[in-house]
Amino acid sequence: MFYAARGSIPPTRHTQHRAPDGSLYAEELFGVEGFTGRSSLLYHLAPPTRVTRIEPLGPVTIETADDGSHHHQLVDSSSLEPARDAISGRVPLFHNGDVVLGVVLPAAAMEPGIFYRNGEGDELLFVHEGTGTLATNFGDLAYHPGDYLVLPIGTTWRHDPDPGVRQRMLYLECPSELEAPRRYRNEYGQLLEHAPYSQRDIRVPEFRQPNREEGAFTVIVRARGRHTAYQFATHPFDVVGWDGFLWPFAFDIANFQPITGRVHQPPPVHQTFQARNFVVCSFVPRKFDYHPLAIPAPYNHSNINSDEVIYYVAGNFMSRRGVGIASFTLHPAGIPHGPHPGTVEASIGKEATEELAVMVDTFRPLSLTRQAAELENPTYPYTWLESTQAAEEAGELAARGPEAFPD
Ligand SMILES: [Fe+2]
Repeated sequence: MFYAARGSIPPTRHTQHRAPDGSLYAEELFGVEGFTGRSSLLYHLAPPTRVTRIEPLGPVTIETADDGSHHHQLVDSSSLEPARDAISGRVPLFHNGDVVLGVVLPAAAMEPGIFYRNGEGDELLFVHEGTGTLATNFGDLAYHPGDYLVLPIGTTWRHDPDPGVRQRMLYLECPSELEAPRRYRNEYGQLLEHAPYSQRDIRVPEFRQPNREEGAFTVIVRARGRHTAYQFATHPFDVVGWDGFLWPFAFDIANFQPITGRVHQPPPVHQTFQARNFVVCSFVPRKFDYHPLAIPAPYNHSNINSDEVIYYVAGNFMSRRGVGIASFTLHPAGIPHGPHPGTVEASIGKEATEELAVMVDTFRPLSLTRQAAELENPTYPYTWLESTQAAEEAGELAARGPEAFPD
C-alpha cells in the first residue's frame, strides 16, 4: 500500500542488525514478482528457514456443481452454522481460475501453536459479524464488523476470535495482488483526491514485541494445490522489526466515502479493490441522486461479459426483492439483469439508502460449488415477473427440471 516501518530495523538495509547479546538478527526479504514487485524486509530472532519436520496434509479440493443450465442465482448462506476454524471452516461458493469466494463462520480459534500461510494467493476477509484479532508476523490486526482484512500472499497468520462472539466472514482467495484501483493512484502510488478512501484509512498491523517461545510451532502452508504442515522449533512471530510496502492491512467499509451524483452512478464508483480479472466494490449507505427527475434504482444492465456477485450485508437493498442478509446473488454474463418489479417506482423520491453490500465482478465465468448449489433458490431467475405467484410457479417447474415446462 505505502511505506511503513515498525519495531527495530538497522539504519541501512542488508547491514548488521544485532541483538543486545551480540547475535545477528536474520533478515528476510518478503516480496512478490521476484525482486521487482512490492516487498518488505523483516528481521527475525531466528532464521525463518529452520524447519524441523514436514508433513503433507493433502490436496485443497473444491467441488463444482453444474446443473447444465445458465441462469441468475440466489444463494442464501444465512442458515449456515459456525464450524471449525477460519481455514478449515471455509465454505467455498463460487470460483474460477482468478478467485474463490465463500463464507466462513469460525466456531473457534485456530489450534494453539498452529499458523497459516497461503503461498498461492492473496486473501481477503470481510467481517460481517464478530470481533477478534488476526495475529500476523507483521503484528496484530484487531477487527470489527465492516472491516476488510487483506492478507498478501505469504503472510503468516492465525485467527483469534474474541471468545463467545459469533463470527461471520465473507472470504476471497486469489492468485494475484489485491490492491487499490489503479485509476485512483498517482505515479507515486498515493491515492488521489477523488479516490473514495485515502491511505489514512488503512490500518497497519499493530507491532507486537517478538515472541521468544521455543517448542513446536506448525505453519500450514498452502502451495501447489495442497496443504503442507511445516514444523519449527521457534515461534513464527519472532520479528523484531520490519519495513516496506508489503504487509497485511485492515480497511473499514465505514470509511469508504461514497461517490454520488445528480443521476444514477454506475457500479465502478463503488470499486474498492482490484485484482487480476475481478474487482471488489462496496455499496455503502449514501445519499441518492439529486436530479429532480432522478431514478435512484439502477437501470437494467447487460455487463455482457462479466459475472456479478453481490453479498448482502445489512439494510434493505433498494433494487432487490426477496433477497435477505447473508445471501449472494450471481448475475452471470450473457443476459441482462436489473431492478425487481416495483422497486423503480418505489425508489423515486427516496433521499438515501442504508444498504450495505459487497460486490465482486469477475471478467471470466464463475462456477458454483456443491455447497452453493445446496443453498440455491430455484425461484430466483423468475423473480422479475410482476406476480410473485408466477415466479414461484416457474421456480417449482425449474426445480423439477427443464422437461417440466409446458411447450
Ligand atoms: Fe448489476
